[in-house]
Amino acid sequence: MASSSGTFSFDRRELSRFLYDLYDYEPKMLRRLISARPYVCPFDEIERHVPQGARLLDVGSGNGALLAILLAAGRIREAVGCDVHEGALVSARTATGRTGQGGQVAFRKIDGFEDLPGEQFDVVTMIDVLHHIAEKDRARAVDQSLERVAPGGIFLFKDMVEGPYWRRLAHNLDDYIFSGEWVTQVKTAELRKQVLNSGFDLVEDMEIPRLWYGNTLLVFRRVSK
Ligand SMILES: C[S@@+](CC[C@H](N)C(=O)[O-])C[C@H]1O[C@@H](n2cnc3c(N)ncnc32)[C@H](O)[C@@H]1O
Repeated sequence: MASSSGTFSFDRRELSRFLYDLYDYEPKMLRRLISARPYVCPFDEIERHVPQGARLLDVGSGNGALLAILLAAGRIREAVGCDVHEGALVSARTATGRTGQGGQVAFRKIDGFEDLPGEQFDVVTMIDVLHHIAEKDRARAVDQSLERVAPGGIFLFKDMVEGPYWRRLAHNLDDYIFSGEWVTQVKTAELRKQVLNSGFDLVEDMEIPRLWYGNTLLVFRRVSK
């Protein structure tokens, strides 16, 4: 749907269709999984928290679905996506290139969060990444991401809920089937405290149920000096 600001907001069905068409070079099963993601992951909610014209860093960008959506929605001026997985980055470059605005994004292979770009961004996103990181390394990963947020900028964090147990189980089984990992959920209260203690205000704190999954979406703004 078009808005007066020149951006577009997509509903879940439109996002699913968009991703299905965009990733038509992927094997059929993977293509279907990618296009099912908007019914599980609240890309629609994430999108509306990105200010128009933002310069954005996507930490753990995977196959680039978020950046492709933001480009197509006219939200972002420029973006960098970073991931440890080269195969995902190859797909991300292809997908965003097919939006016709691929020149506005760059994807970088990193070996860890310390390799994130040195500069600061208007928005830093971390979507479904932290539960893949060993618990002992999570606080440092968050710190390294926060360092990349410019004063007045936004840290947009999305992960899976800690409970109830059946939503947690759904998430665990999903990750076990698709990534072979039995993950541990992010402790949201600890994360919230860490970010608030790092000079950020909490702008939005949402729990978003989707099918049998549950999402925690936290939006922080760095206090301007
Ligand atoms: C569940 S996927 C989410 C991808 C993407 N953010 C999305 O929502 O579509 C998790 C991603 O985190 C990446 N990842 C894992 N450890 C990482 C690290 N240390 N630095 C950057 N990315 C990492 C994985 O390679 C994977 O692409």
